[in-house]
Amino acid sequence: MKDLFSPYKYKSLELKNRIIMPPMCQYSVDNKDGVATDWHYLHYVSRAIGGAGMIIIEMTDVEPDGRISDFDLGLWSDEQIPALQRIVDACHSYGAKVGIQIGHAGRKAEDAEVPVAPSAIPFDENFKTPRALSTTEVKEMVEKFRKAVGRAVRAGFDSIEIHGAHGYLIHQFHSPLTNKRTDEYGENPTQFGREIIQAAKAEMPDDMPLIMRISAMEYVEGGYGIEESIVFAGEYQKAGVDIFDVSSGGEGPIAASGRPGTHAAYQVPLAKEIKKGLDVPVIAVGRLDDPILANAVIGNEEADLVAVGRGMLRNPYWSLEAAAKLKQETAIPKQYTTGF
Ligand SMILES: Cc1cc2nc3c(=O)[nH]c(=O)nc-3n(C[C@H](O)[C@H](O)[C@H](O)COP(=O)(O)O)c2cc1C
Repeated sequence: MKDLFSPYKYKSLELKNRIIMPPMCQYSVDNKDGVATDWHYLHYVSRAIGGAGMIIIEMTDVEPDGRISDFDLGLWSDEQIPALQRIVDACHSYGAKVGIQIGHAGRKAEDAEVPVAPSAIPFDENFKTPRALSTTEVKEMVEKFRKAVGRAVRAGFDSIEIHGAHGYLIHQFHSPLTNKRTDEYGENPTQFGREIIQAAKAEMPDDMPLIMRISAMEYVEGGYGIEESIVFAGEYQKAGVDIFDVSSGGEGPIAASGRPGTHAAYQVPLAKEIKKGLDVPVIAVGRLDDPILANAVIGNEEADLVAVGRGMLRNPYWSLEAAAKLKQETAIPKQYTTGF
């Protein structure tokens, strides 16, 4: 029987428990230079001390105009490596593994003068109209992802997560709502994502697992559902994805009628379908901050790993408290044992 505190191993990734801190943008870079600051160091290392099995660093962008805001992290330059390496090393010393989410915001790059996208369709009337990337520029974008992943590997990360969810650039390519191209990247909507996966894998050690975050369901009218996402995720799996981090939405403004429920565990059914449909490990995320519920998701084999986002923003020691509540053994820093 597996539970939240059972160790997890996949290829070279060995976690002491099944608790993941999911990527959460901090919008806390100084000087718009994409370099991690002391805020990032304290924020991530606190969750390592707090007992998370793996921390996935927030969306980190492959070029300056790929950022949601100018205060996001970047990995478009070697100068951005040391500050991330410092975080990775410290998290390792407290027993946590560390991944990083590599992405590009595409038409949702709010501070870019002219954002880029598969097609020139704005998110809504409040967003800028993006410029469609030329075929050559799409190929150059794949190379930017490759280089960013190479830098992440050099910084010492244990895994890489490609951001293919929430209406950002990769999602914009595989969604029929946002990709109206007539070139090869329009004829094969997953080609951009697949090329990025292959480029990432080429930069990663053979036994390092690649994670991909997807939106397994769109909520706007005419958006894709779980059947379609099993098909496109299957193509990404064949291209090299090892683990899917299953989220949903973000593709556009949703009408009241299309709004998803936001009750506890609301995305677990999607994670379970992807897991079953593709026989692949999955991370479930979304209002799983009750440890009893998170533990049940693992015990019932609905997901292999559980991510707790806002719960960890409120409480960096979420994992230690979950162990106490579930009466499970976990290593408590010796300075804090009297607290438990
Ligand atoms: C402040 C904040 C920033 C976020 N930034 C990201 C991000 O960088 N990348 C991403 O894939 N999801 C991001 N998310 C979504 C979370 O990773 C997570 O999927 C979501 O909060 C649902 O999980 P929860 O109910 O445990 O918070 C963010 C969420 C929050 C609250």
